[in-house]
Amino acid sequence: MNSKPNDKPWGGRFASSTSELVEAFTQSLDYDRFLALQDLAGSRSHARMLAAQSIITSEELNEILTGLDLIQHELERDSFEWDPGLEDVHMNIERRLVDLIGVSGQKLHTGRSRNDQVALDFRLYVSQAVTEWQANIRQLISALVDQADKHRETLLPGYTHLQPAQPVSLAHHLFAYGHMFRRDYQRIDDVLPRIKVSPLGAAALAGTTYSLDPWMVARDLDFPGVFGNSMDAVSDRDFVLEGLFLASMLMMHLSRLAEEIILWSNPGFGFIILPETYATGSSIMPQKKNPDVAELIRGKTGGVFGRLMALLTTMKALPLTYNRDMQEDKEPFIEAHRSVSASLQIMAGMVSALGFNKKQMLRALKQGYLNATELADYLVSKGMTFRNAHHVTGRIVAFAEHKGAGLEELGLEELKGFSDLIKKDVFEVLDYQRAVQRRITPGSTGPGSVELQMQDFREWLDKKNGGSV
Ligand code: ARG
Repeated sequence: MNSKPNDKPWGGRFASSTSELVEAFTQSLDYDRFLALQDLAGSRSHARMLAAQSIITSEELNEILTGLDLIQHELERDSFEWDPGLEDVHMNIERRLVDLIGVSGQKLHTGRSRNDQVALDFRLYVSQAVTEWQANIRQLISALVDQADKHRETLLPGYTHLQPAQPVSLAHHLFAYGHMFRRDYQRIDDVLPRIKVSPLGAAALAGTTYSLDPWMVARDLDFPGVFGNSMDAVSDRDFVLEGLFLASMLMMHLSRLAEEIILWSNPGFGFIILPETYATGSSIMPQKKNPDVAELIRGKTGGVFGRLMALLTTMKALPLTYNRDMQEDKEPFIEAHRSVSASLQIMAGMVSALGFNKKQMLRALKQGYLNATELADYLVSKGMTFRNAHHVTGRIVAFAEHKGAGLEELGLEELKGFSDLIKKDVFEVLDYQRAVQRRITPGSTGPGSVELQMQDFREWLDKKNGGSV
């Protein structure tokens, strides 16, 4: 053991200093340095409240605010000197404040503990992160809607079991993602009031003897809520977990879209032309254009899910109140934030740049006999039972397949050979565009529903973007 006196801010009762390994193990700067601006904001509000409550003087407040501004400058210019020996962002900033302004700096921590301080800083960080995601989601939805606008009439096979099922409009397919991401946006709105609850005033765990005004701090930080129980306030990390769940759901949706982009860019589908700016080549196979960007979005999804599980597991079975285990909450959220924010922005750009190959989609419609259900329904409308119609249509499909033709490419006489109920009007039914037009239920792929979805998304975007996109 080292016998030098301990010079840590908490070192008063320690006769010896910490071993280097322990110092490196316990410091949290690698991640909590990203909370520096939030720490400054929290400290400004705390100091203003201390002055308003006459716990510090207005001169002391001014010195503290000036000192915190200087520190912000240093951080912005990247000239702030981090000392891992000071453990975390809070003590680094406090030590620098005292260096800069002397004894008033030592009063800033009055009535505060790092336990309520870190909870506040991280609540500020998480609330800002998820609010940024909302802006990114708006961009992505707007990219989807712009593509949909160009492709109301473009048809492609809709799939179940990844087998061609029924024709749908490409706009309708893209709007399905629009709906997913809009739910993610709304989910963030639902979670925000639980994130923006100020824990300041809980102190270490039991509250303090100073006459603090937690509501003043909350108002100053634009937080609508204040803690109701000091023990819960310092030990609650639900807000981080909810943030990680939001991240997971978003990534799951992004990963599904990424998967379709990967499939559709495969020559077997050939539905999309990958923009070169969003593709990479192979070092050995000259013909390749790979969808790596979409693959990485799909790949990062695993990491984000893992981080949610990691923090749930860290929190499980922790006794009240603050435990140092909880320091492990920064890395998962900050890393998940990086993945979500990059993936959303990149996906928005990629969706805007996608080119769709209508010919290939039409080819897939024909090859998949996506008008077979229409033919069966036609026979029913002419008086055949559905079971029979299903059977007869099946035989016609087998015949067409043998011939290498689409149903609509067979001659009337050939069709009549299977049932004399078939008349010339069958070709209207076999037309893919008409099949889609006949879908009239709300929310269907029919043109009426697609138009309504278009209006609905445009209005929503206008409202959320305050009139501008
Ligand atoms: N670095 C710590 C964390 O992130 C800050 C709180 C430390 N509190 C304490 N009592 N050691 O959790």
